[in-house]
Amino acid sequence: MTKGKSAANSGVATERLLGKGLDVGTANLVAATQNPDGSITVKLERNAFLDVKGDVYSKAMLTKLKVPYVMRGESLIVLGEASFELANVFGRETRRPMKDGLIAPSDADALPMIRLIIDQLLGAPSQHGENCYFSVPAPSIDKDNNIIYHQGLFEGMLRSMGYTARAINEGHAVVFSELAESDFSGIGISFGGGMANICVCYKTIPALSFSISRGGDWIDRNVSDTLGIPRSRATHLKERGVDIANPQGREEEAITIFYRNLIQYVLMNIKNRFETTANMPQFHAAVPIVCSGGTAMAKNFIKVFQDECTRIKMPIPIESITLATEPLNSVAKGCLVAAALGDGA
Ligand SMILES: Nc1ncnc2c1ncn2[C@@H]1O[C@H](COP(=O)(O)OP(=O)(O)OP(=O)(O)O)[C@@H](O)[C@H]1O
Ligand SMILES: [Mg+2]
Repeated sequence: MTKGKSAANSGVATERLLGKGLDVGTANLVAATQNPDGSITVKLERNAFLDVKGDVYSKAMLTKLKVPYVMRGESLIVLGEASFELANVFGRETRRPMKDGLIAPSDADALPMIRLIIDQLLGAPSQHGENCYFSVPAPSIDKDNNIIYHQGLFEGMLRSMGYTARAINEGHAVVFSELAESDFSGIGISFGGGMANICVCYKTIPALSFSISRGGDWIDRNVSDTLGIPRSRATHLKERGVDIANPQGREEEAITIFYRNLIQYVLMNIKNRFETTANMPQFHAAVPIVCSGGTAMAKNFIKVFQDECTRIKMPIPIESITLATEPLNSVAKGCLVAAALGDGA
């Protein structure tokens, strides 16, 4: 079932859509910009890079393969999707500037490389001080994640590019993008590469946000370890499209087992929070749940999510469980909607 609703597409407050939206993700960086005619342009780039020795042979090779690169000191740097393709051709692994939703603190190249990609995606502000709302993860329930440092780095980067930067919680952005017709009330979940972000929202106000440090990378790592195959092969098998309600063969079975476990873990934690957190909103009607993020793109993801939801007996009535219209873009679009509404995390 793919019944997601997009505020960005439905023209909600289009004339007030100012600024830009940026999804800072472990796997993908996504920028959403409003065009003068009110439509939205979304640009996506893989959050990865590869450094190649800066000799004449490598330069000639990259030029011949038509791979764009930038010079950095003695090295040639290939960014984004091109680095992923090049790495596959030469049997290397790309370098990833982020891990589990946050900037990798030990890699000195991480921030400058992300900045190069963000520069290409966002471009310059249309006027100095234009708003840019960017996504940040919610506090993790299972990992000590220092969001303050991560958030501060991106605020500083966007400010130096001429934007007025404001952080918004990733799950909150999903609600802004997908639940306009429910008055921005419901549960938004982003199943990403590094983590899952959950936000329970009541009329635009987040009542509860948390993250879990399990996502697509966690599935890949576990499939790779249990089957004894390289991680990149596990990613490839998964992204090729697995029907997680009807897996075929040993590899798909393994992927499905970890998918189910991830969904159960997320639902168990939502249930837990509803039962133990004080001051949760009193929803007067059944609550819609919308799932987004690349990990939710597996075939029959929503069906398995529904099965598990029934099994776990959620403490609140659920109105619907839907997949975002564009799972990879909904956080960036939600950041843009939040900028228009003038709301933030
Ligand atoms: N068709 C597909 N089927 C299953 N998984 C997919 C598919 N396409 C992409 N993915 C997975 O989606 C994940 C990336 O999703 P997304 O772009 O939403 O993450 P992110 O926002 O970069 O990460 P995070 O929010 O955790 O920081 C990766 O793990 C990738 O392997
Ligand atoms: Mg994400």
